[in-house]
Amino acid sequence: MSRRISTVGLSFMILCSQACGSDTEKSSAKGPGAALKCTSSGKNAFDTFGTTAFVAVNEAIFANVGSEVTANGTTNLGDSFTKIGTGAPASTGDDAATFKGQLAAFLVYAYGGPSSITYTDGKMYLGPQDMVSAHLGLGITSSQYDYFIASVVVPALTSSGVSAADVSSCFAPIVTDAAFKASIVGH
Ligand code: HEM
Repeated sequence: MSRRISTVGLSFMILCSQACGSDTEKSSAKGPGAALKCTSSGKNAFDTFGTTAFVAVNEAIFANVGSEVTANGTTNLGDSFTKIGTGAPASTGDDAATFKGQLAAFLVYAYGGPSSITYTDGKMYLGPQDMVSAHLGLGITSSQYDYFIASVVVPALTSSGVSAADVSSCFAPIVTDAAFKASIVGH
């Protein structure tokens, strides 16, 4: 798995060194949420909330998945999360700790932060990740995706102190984007 991400990261860096042009463009390569402005601050989500808040949201997402699976089994989210770390056929085969670091790095990057982070386990994770490969073989449905956003991700944001106005202005547009959803659903 680390090899897959490293390869993606490496390709990204090579592509950038070949195609990103000036040094200014290289250093300003940012995820799609970098341009979204939060109502509360006029700045993007990462610049508004920072690494500590993103880590808290990420931890809350995993806690909410755990509660959801305990309460409702596979009814709403399907069986993909129950396979993490079991060695069952799934896209990456990562254990839960790696999954956590990868998701945190993706979110930080997607919402305007740096393209890598060191997570609470002391390991470095790369933000730019291919969502199709990450979800290949999981068969996630449209309703599972919508449930995940509405009942796992949004509550993780609000319980971490993000206002409804900021959820709508500087977080939601990324995950409601049809192309982004299509990169996760149905693979
Ligand atoms: C905002 C929407 C989503 C984002 C940003 C996202 C992000 C990610 C990322 C970054 C990974 C890679 C983790 C790794 O490399 O270990 C991943 C894997 C995974 N995602 Fe998602 N995901 C989303 C939606 C969903 C949904 C809706 C489900 C299921 C209902 C889901 C289930 C999984 C599972 C089970 C894996 C791990 C696969 C494996 O270890 O092989 N994801 N996701």
